[in-house]
Amino acid sequence: MAATDSGWPLAGFDLARANTLALPGHAALYAEITSADQLARFVSERSPGSLRRFVLGGGSNLVLSGDFDGLVLHMAIGGHELAGEDDEAWYVRAGAGESWHDFVGWTLTQGWPGLENLSLIPGTVGAAPIQNIGAYGLEVAERFHSLTACDMDSGEFVRFDRAACRFGYRDSVFKQEGWHLDGRFVITDVTFLLPKAWQALAGYAEIAAELAAQSIASADARQIAAAVVAVRRRKLPDPAQIPNAGSFFHNPVVDVATAGRLRAAYPALPCYPQADGRCKLAAGWLIEQAGWKGKALGPVSMYEKQALVMINRGGATGADVRALMQAVQRDVMDKFAVALTPEPIFL
Ligand code: EPU
Repeated sequence: MAATDSGWPLAGFDLARANTLALPGHAALYAEITSADQLARFVSERSPGSLRRFVLGGGSNLVLSGDFDGLVLHMAIGGHELAGEDDEAWYVRAGAGESWHDFVGWTLTQGWPGLENLSLIPGTVGAAPIQNIGAYGLEVAERFHSLTACDMDSGEFVRFDRAACRFGYRDSVFKQEGWHLDGRFVITDVTFLLPKAWQALAGYAEIAAELAAQSIASADARQIAAAVVAVRRRKLPDPAQIPNAGSFFHNPVVDVATAGRLRAAYPALPCYPQADGRCKLAAGWLIEQAGWKGKALGPVSMYEKQALVMINRGGATGADVRALMQAVQRDVMDKFAVALTPEPIFL
């Protein structure tokens, strides 16, 4: 990807390779940000105030509608370090532009377990807290310590601790306040708290089955990471080969009455009880039962091995993605009276 070594934005930048669904579109202006200092200078000297702004990480949770008539800030701040250590934990910090999976791998190599269940999730460190990435029984919120973000109105750097991030299921204050869309706060680094009293989280059925198949009775963190990678490779398409944005919808959380009604009609429906008494349903199951698993609409389809993932079979546009999204939402609503909300960000 072209770098803006002077820091000045590039005009008419092609975003097709900057989003993992490989949707076409150009940014009116684009700048690659490689340091917090550069970002601060950019705010004070070079960012036209009235222009729409969008902060891009790995582009792995993004639906590009077409051309973007604003400024795309591509976060490429690298680096990772042990920021501190006490009796309880290792505190590990990484730049927002680091590859998430590479960062997880580095922590494991250092002998600091805790992030292994989140192996192979596409995207960057800076994007991880925004949608509170999660997989196989762990959400990043559970390993989060704090982050630094640049307030793009003032140019000041602000620290967010766990409470300030207001994490929820695939949710945080950045989404709640719309900052992920207007780029008001731009995350520059994230610090994770990795407890020294590590416990394996290997109860998720598919991970347990993978470890059992390898005759591993009590897995260490690297073995869990390897099992997670194996399960993900089997079920989820590699964006480098089959363009996709991971899970396309949230798993819907419904009230007890709705869950009861659905379970009575569909005893096989996967339902996960939540702390607040509600139930999380498996959207992939609903989509499969609605007939969309492996089914295409134009150049996009719901993936044949995981119905929750939409894939671009080649040449799709943002409009094709929206058309399939709406068709799936309509059919799941007609069959189950359950609303599906998309997980990716729409630009
Ligand atoms: N299922 C089906 N048909 C399908 C897909 C799934 O019946 O086509 C059923 C499965 O049999 C299982 C249930 O649905 O009983 C759940 O499926 P799975 O374990 O694959 O997980 P998921 O709920 O579909 C979530 C996350 C994933 C994460 C996995 C594993 C969301 C929106 N998605 O998917 O996260 O990797 O659990 O923890 O919460 C992502 O967010 O991009 C993502 C990939």
